[in-house]
Amino acid sequence: MAERILVVDDEKLIRWSLREHLTGEGYEVLEAENGATAARFVEEGAFDLALIDVRLPDTDGMALLTAISETLPDVPVIIVTAFSTVDGAVDAMKSGAFDYVTKPFNMEELSIAVKRALETTQLRRKVSEQVDIEKARFGLGNVIGKSPGMLRIKELVERIAQSETTTVLLLGESGTGKDMIARAIHYESNRVDAPFMNITCTALPESLLESELFGYEKGAFTDAKTQKRGLFELADGGTVFMDEIGDMTPALQAKLLRVLEDKAFKRIGGSKDISVDIRVIAATNSDLEKAIEKNAFREDLYYRISIVPVYIPPLRERPEDIPLLANHFITLYNTEFRRSVQSLSAEALDRIQRYDWPGNVRELRNVIERAVLLGAGDVIAPDDIQLGRSVLGPKTKQDRYVVRLPENGCNLADVETDLVRQALQRTNGNQTQAAKLLGLTRDQIRYKAAKLRDLEAKPPTS
Ligand SMILES: Nc1ncnc2c1ncn2[C@@H]1O[C@H](COP(=O)(O)OP(=O)(O)OP(=O)(O)O)[C@@H](O)[C@H]1O
Ligand SMILES: [Mg+2]
Repeated sequence: MAERILVVDDEKLIRWSLREHLTGEGYEVLEAENGATAARFVEEGAFDLALIDVRLPDTDGMALLTAISETLPDVPVIIVTAFSTVDGAVDAMKSGAFDYVTKPFNMEELSIAVKRALETTQLRRKVSEQVDIEKARFGLGNVIGKSPGMLRIKELVERIAQSETTTVLLLGESGTGKDMIARAIHYESNRVDAPFMNITCTALPESLLESELFGYEKGAFTDAKTQKRGLFELADGGTVFMDEIGDMTPALQAKLLRVLEDKAFKRIGGSKDISVDIRVIAATNSDLEKAIEKNAFREDLYYRISIVPVYIPPLRERPEDIPLLANHFITLYNTEFRRSVQSLSAEALDRIQRYDWPGNVRELRNVIERAVLLGAGDVIAPDDIQLGRSVLGPKTKQDRYVVRLPENGCNLADVETDLVRQALQRTNGNQTQAAKLLGLTRDQIRYKAAKLRDLEAKPPTS
């Protein structure tokens, strides 16, 4: 659809020439000869850009500019001034005009100004839509729970989000939602336009972690062929989430403390201080106070990061959240697997409410995922609920199931073939679902299924 441009000018000839030119460029043009007519168009809001002469018979172009930026903040305004009144243009820019052009018109310049204003506005709109999407996906709205413990946490997240830089320490067992809460803090805060950066301190050896966080200058060490910016720099204006903070080495702990206190650091091999504006959110499921006693964690850093501790209680201590979370995950996996599961049966619900969820919400999520994927009907039956360590589909180190090697050994290839066959049978041949059950990619399952077909097609050799 053609973009609409409102032209406001009292001179008929000028309106006419602008219309000719802009229509020729593919725009649709609305005309207003004075402020009153323009005001009606503003009320309808039916244009994408306004081109306004500052001098109008019945009103001041500046007043019209103000009216537009108040009612239609996303619509760019280009002010038209006579050459002699460029001062007025400066005022217009200060009052929110996107650009100005001078009379007499250079049509080419005008076209460029119009195009740039429309493109920039569109880009801004896209960015803000993207932010809205991310907010909807990661904001507080996704944090499910009505237990007093969860309500307290949500309130805390709101308060923390409003405070610009406060460091936060998230505590809680594995799977309680520390990652999720860290994101919620970021996406509810004013930092939402800047990056959310995530690093797990256990995952990397010390020197790598250090260069990830602080970056380095060219030549800082043998492999430093070019300068590299670290996470703290890249996250400027945003949030850095440091998971498993308890696993950081004391040397790095000292460096982190300095970042928190001075909001500045040096790249490795660098001599210049780099200032950054970041919020650090740390998380751990280990006991930091014990680590302090053992001299494995710096006490000063602990005091610095634990100004606002947020403890997320384990799921077994908030059983009232279990049905809410279960329904939330049913909806989620209905969409993902194109199923139409309605609910849990009363008995199934009873089972999940009495279970103690050592893997917390993550475990509940996995259990519901499996039930939605494999359950036969629209209501999840108790048999669809597989609790405990025997559940297939391990997601974390701790949750891995145990397969016992038979006394006399076995043939691994046969076991694999057998499991692939079972997975395909159970999912009525749906390879995507079978892949999920076995922790395989689509390509892997396709390959294995083909191999299985070959095997079954071949007559036994002996
Ligand atoms: N209150 C909640 N509402 C909705 N989803 C939740 C909630 N709590 C946790 N989850 C979901 O449970 C899963 C595990 O959560 P998350 O990864 O945040 O846990 P964690 O505490 O960081 O675990 P770990 O210590 O193992 O890193 C995620 O899929 C998350 O979206
Ligand atoms: Mg986590």
